[in-house]
Amino acid sequence: MIYFPKDLAEIIHQNIGSAKGLNAVRLRENYQKNKNHEELYSTYLLSRMPSTYAAITRVLQEIPADVEVLTALDIGSGPGTGLWAMRERFPGMASYKGLEVDEIFIDLAKQLNSKASGPVVEWMNGAYPKDLPDSKSDLVLMSYTVGENSAETVLKTIDHVWKHNVSEWLVVIEPGTPKGYNSILNIRGYVAKNGGYMYAPCKGNYTCPLFGHDWCHFSIRLERTLLQKQIKKGTLPYEDEKFSYLIARKSPIVFDEAAARVIKNPLVRSGHITLDLCGESGYERMTVSKSQKEAYRTAKNAEWGSTWKKK
Ligand SMILES: C[S@@+](CC[C@H](N)C(=O)[O-])C[C@H]1O[C@@H](n2cnc3c(N)ncnc32)[C@H](O)[C@@H]1O
Repeated sequence: MIYFPKDLAEIIHQNIGSAKGLNAVRLRENYQKNKNHEELYSTYLLSRMPSTYAAITRVLQEIPADVEVLTALDIGSGPGTGLWAMRERFPGMASYKGLEVDEIFIDLAKQLNSKASGPVVEWMNGAYPKDLPDSKSDLVLMSYTVGENSAETVLKTIDHVWKHNVSEWLVVIEPGTPKGYNSILNIRGYVAKNGGYMYAPCKGNYTCPLFGHDWCHFSIRLERTLLQKQIKKGTLPYEDEKFSYLIARKSPIVFDEAAARVIKNPLVRSGHITLDLCGESGYERMTVSKSQKEAYRTAKNAEWGSTWKKK
């Protein structure tokens, strides 16, 4: 379970009544009329930001704990969701740049971050690819933004980003839909051809075994904030966010040949657990029975998205 930062939730809740003339009641009405209307900024802060925050946080957990990221570039930064997630994960981050085409999102990002400490923050109002900077950052994040652009724009952007902006890590996150997966796959193809190394969820540059059969995606559970519950009139204290993602690196990675990714919820039955695994040797469905004592103990802890080491 991922928890949205309490201080961020409070700032959003305090500001929301006056934000762009919308109040909670109108927000709920608008939300009910058109649940996917992400142009409603306040609705975005209330209903989507906690979910994208959870997905970014979950994906960043894949990067080894001892990795330091000092400089970050967040492309399509919206209200600055990536800043909040990266500040939490990389407390030593010294500089963060957000590139965002929408001025209202830039204003909101500034408001939300006005009292926060941490890295030196620069908000750049511009559109990718034309307004991308030429400087390098340890980590470049593109979270839930690629799908809003044409394939041509994305390709030009990734070409620039990979050559001129990424010094080590590229992290791309999209909704966990076939469309999101396809966008990720195209970026993966570009990066693999241009000297990059896939770090996660793939454990190498092998051809995606799911292509044409299924789409690779994962899920993260997040706690619903009070206003999120009110706006959605939801009773559940949590929701699940589905996402597809890619972490690529500039430096080579040596994977254990037996390492694989659990790509679906493990099926727990009496006496055995079935795992769907993906790795260098392709897709594999594996059953671990209770009699395989040690493997069974490990399988009980396996989760959709976790790493599995085949013996
Ligand atoms: C769904 S929001 C995601 C915001 C944030 N990254 C997050 O994860 O919550 C997508 C953002 O990308 C921005 N965006 C889309 N295309 C862009 C482009 N070509 N240049 C700059 N920003 C762009 C949008 O304005 C919007 O703020």
